[in-house]
Amino acid sequence: MESDTVFKWVLFFLIANHLGCQLISCSVTYDSKSIVINGERRILISGSIHYPRSTPEMWEDLVMKAKDGGLDVIDTYVFWNVHEPSPGNFNFEGKYDLVRFLKTVQKAGMYVHLRIGPYVCAEWNFGGFPVWLKYVPGISFRTDNEPFKRAMKGFTEKIVTLMKSEKMFESQGGPIILSQVENEYGSVEKAYGGAGHNYMTWASNMAVELDTGVPWVMCKQDDAPDPIINTCNGFYCDEFSPNKPYKPTIWTEAWSGWFTEFGGPVYERPVQDLAFGVARFIQKGGSFFNYYMYHGGTNFGRSSGGPFITTSYDYDAPIDEYGLIRQPKYGHLKELHKVIKQCEPILLSAEPVITSLGSLQQAHVFSPKSGPCAAFLANYDPNNAAKVMFNNKQYTLPSWSISILPDCDNVVFNTADVGVQLTQVEMSPSDSNMFSWEIFTEDLTVSDESSTFTATGLLEQINVTRDTTDYLWYTTSVDIGSSESFLSGGDLPKLLVQSMGHALHVYINGEYSGSSFGTRKHRKLTYKEKINLHAGSNKIALLSVAMGLPNIGGHYETWETGVLGPVALYGLDQGKRDLSWVNWTYQVGLKGEAMNVFSSNADTYIKWTEGSLITQKQQPLTWYKTNFNEPDGDEPLALDMNSMGKGEAWINGQSIGRYWLTYANGDCQGCHYAGTYHPLTCQLGCGQPTQRWYHVPRSWLKPTDNLLVLFEELGGDPTKVSLVKRSMVQ
Ligand code: GAL
Repeated sequence: MESDTVFKWVLFFLIANHLGCQLISCSVTYDSKSIVINGERRILISGSIHYPRSTPEMWEDLVMKAKDGGLDVIDTYVFWNVHEPSPGNFNFEGKYDLVRFLKTVQKAGMYVHLRIGPYVCAEWNFGGFPVWLKYVPGISFRTDNEPFKRAMKGFTEKIVTLMKSEKMFESQGGPIILSQVENEYGSVEKAYGGAGHNYMTWASNMAVELDTGVPWVMCKQDDAPDPIINTCNGFYCDEFSPNKPYKPTIWTEAWSGWFTEFGGPVYERPVQDLAFGVARFIQKGGSFFNYYMYHGGTNFGRSSGGPFITTSYDYDAPIDEYGLIRQPKYGHLKELHKVIKQCEPILLSAEPVITSLGSLQQAHVFSPKSGPCAAFLANYDPNNAAKVMFNNKQYTLPSWSISILPDCDNVVFNTADVGVQLTQVEMSPSDSNMFSWEIFTEDLTVSDESSTFTATGLLEQINVTRDTTDYLWYTTSVDIGSSESFLSGGDLPKLLVQSMGHALHVYINGEYSGSSFGTRKHRKLTYKEKINLHAGSNKIALLSVAMGLPNIGGHYETWETGVLGPVALYGLDQGKRDLSWVNWTYQVGLKGEAMNVFSSNADTYIKWTEGSLITQKQQPLTWYKTNFNEPDGDEPLALDMNSMGKGEAWINGQSIGRYWLTYANGDCQGCHYAGTYHPLTCQLGCGQPTQRWYHVPRSWLKPTDNLLVLFEELGGDPTKVSLVKRSMVQ
């Protein structure tokens, strides 16, 4: 080549590279087989990693581990409530830096599926909706309602505009190849009647009009209108087909495990069954699947939904809550991904032909017009291995498994045959696990009038707190005549309190009297106990505690929280005395919260007492603080809270989440991989605290003088709290 021709070519490539998709047309489209990126069909392997469930300092490592595990795509929801904490005020800082997260994925050479929602479910507080949205006049969520649609459109546009300005869509040379609008709306649409259908149609038009240049999906939405692709979520998706023959078969949530709730066991999903589910999907012609979750992470602060979703969102995912690789799950799936990629060109250029190999055995064979074929030999029998004949050769198929033969001859992978070694988690003491505590007790006696107000009757909690805190005090006085017979030896009166949830602590005349708790499924609770009253005026103080706002359920924005009554005294001489409509004084939040006791710039007049001087241990409603140095090494860290009760923990002013040492109720009868999976089939940790360890991100620590603050509701023993290092051992 002439040197000036070479020069021209070099110049062309430099400019093309620089201008990227402005010169070379970048596009994402689809056909019946798959997503098509820049004209090329692809089998895409994806995993969910939600950016606010880890720290920016962890992102690169998580993404690189995902890439190394054979993933092409990272999937994340966008969490409206963290980005727009009050109307029009946006936050994209720190762990909410969505663009930084996406650029981390891009730098790794991977793609993104951006699930904008903005309803996300996700076991996230209020399903991702900001709580202020509930108070927009005339609003009704997720239906054909103007105020809601206006707000949803505003946020969706905001995100799409941000993505466009950062050139994040693949059509602009960026990593985003797919976007999702709404989330599993199909499951509630019918209950919302005609308005539901109108809303769904509006949402899809609104999304398409944003003209991102990449396809939109709607998951679990059988009636998703063109050009939106309807997709499947579930433990298995091999029975799913999209609603038009020209759309690809996409599995947006292949559940790799399950979430945990306080009071429940930990759920595991055996990797043999997960791999079996994926292989079933691929053999059927599926071309895009996403592990929900690939890394679950942590519900820091008060971000967990539910109510009662645990702070850990580990999910039994291939990368654990702390960012460590979980074996054999990670490694076995990596092997599966390798063999799927080996078959990719064949899978994308032929339809599977299914033949029976036995009553519960089948072959799926992909034979392109030219070149070799690939075969999947399946044994759906959960109890027995099977010997089958395929292409005149005998194969033994373990029970509930699929063998993959990329050349229709040799078995390269079997879903039930796990070659990767199991790793065990080790939580070992760190060099800074001895804390010396200072104590500050929530003062129940002084009521500061500037922070309280009085109303007749019982008020809904979130209306009052706007979810700025978990805590709301309901306080009233009760006069007891000196002639009441219980005062001279009769039966003590009982206090009845009915609450819409989520937890309740009862104080009578400043003394702790008892607690009551709801659950995720039964949020309502009743407290009915004998109480100690004296002649004259008595103070009844009810501390109602929210444990994460609901994230799923028809019109959950209308569900109520807090003490809505009745509240009554039984067993007085007059019989029942109803307190539901007397005057109640309200205090939003704890005094310690108002004084910022968890932060290093807390009010200086707080009187902390040295822990060693306190004689009475295990006091409820107590703040504890200590300082500590960062443990050496780089292992992830956790607080071992086994000796505590219930509350919240902060490191250097940032909340690591709610803690609760409640014991797991469940049926831990052992777990076998074979047979249709359901979380109840694989329960762990029955009789143990649902969550004992709480992730302390390394990046939140300074080398020395870190501040740890605990707020304890029930009365735990902080002297036994320790900081431990997590590692995986073979
Ligand atoms: C799905 C939902 C996800 C998550 C999951 C359970 O139905 O789309 O957001 O909530 O269930 O972990």
